[in-house]
Amino acid sequence: RAKGPLSGKKVMVTAGGTVERIDPVRYISNDSSGKMGFAIARAARAMGAEVTLIAARTDEAPPQDPEITLVRVESAQSMLDEVVSRWNSCDILIKAAAVADYRPKHSADAKIKKSGDTMTLELVKTTDILESLGKVKDNQFLIGFAAETGNAEYYAKDKLVRKNLDLIVANDVSREGAGFGTDTNIVSIYDADGLVLDLPISSKDEVARRLLTLAAERISGVTR
Ligand code: PMT
Repeated sequence: RAKGPLSGKKVMVTAGGTVERIDPVRYISNDSSGKMGFAIARAARAMGAEVTLIAARTDEAPPQDPEITLVRVESAQSMLDEVVSRWNSCDILIKAAAVADYRPKHSADAKIKKSGDTMTLELVKTTDILESLGKVKDNQFLIGFAAETGNAEYYAKDKLVRKNLDLIVANDVSREGAGFGTDTNIVSIYDADGLVLDLPISSKDEVARRLLTLAAERISGVTR
């Protein structure tokens, strides 16, 4: 096993956008490519961690590293199930995935036929994975992402507190070179005391390394 600042640590990373089925051929999703989460998984591995990558729909192929355990999921519910089943043996959870907040109330078994001029889809809330784990957090170090299109600092801090996170990575996805699909990101990282790190535009690999270095420093002070 590779030695490094995270050796002996179990890191779980989520990536990509969840798929919420309307019927067998249609779904609701988002623009997450998986790049950010994949970069984190690779960086964690390079730093010596035992890595599990839970990936929803992605544009990119996941890292082809036999040392990274890959679990494919589709919906927010299936991501929740996979994350929860591994939660007890996890040291650091990083939720880079873009998880649907709502899903269709009914998912049809057969393709829905065209009929009236309008159609209404009823949506129901999904379970917030981070929030539910934040409530039962023991020694795990929890990192969330916040994808915002304005007021990133305000919303990120709110999510940090509400979901009981150790760190939150705010990306203002309306900025050029940040957020969905790009090879770069522009992030600010906060903890409960405020701003920890403000990164200029950087590759997602660099963002991943900086984030994991912070996490490694912080958990090394924790008695387990
Ligand atoms: O994949 P890329 O193309 O590289 O893009 C990267 C990214 C923009 C997707 C990523 O950097 C990012 O910001 N991910 C979080 C997107 C998101 O869903 O943000 P949010 O503000 O809606 O959610 C906040 C946090 O709660 C996230 O960590 C999310 O994983 C988590 N969440 C949200 C809803 C839910 N039901 N369960 C959750 O755990």
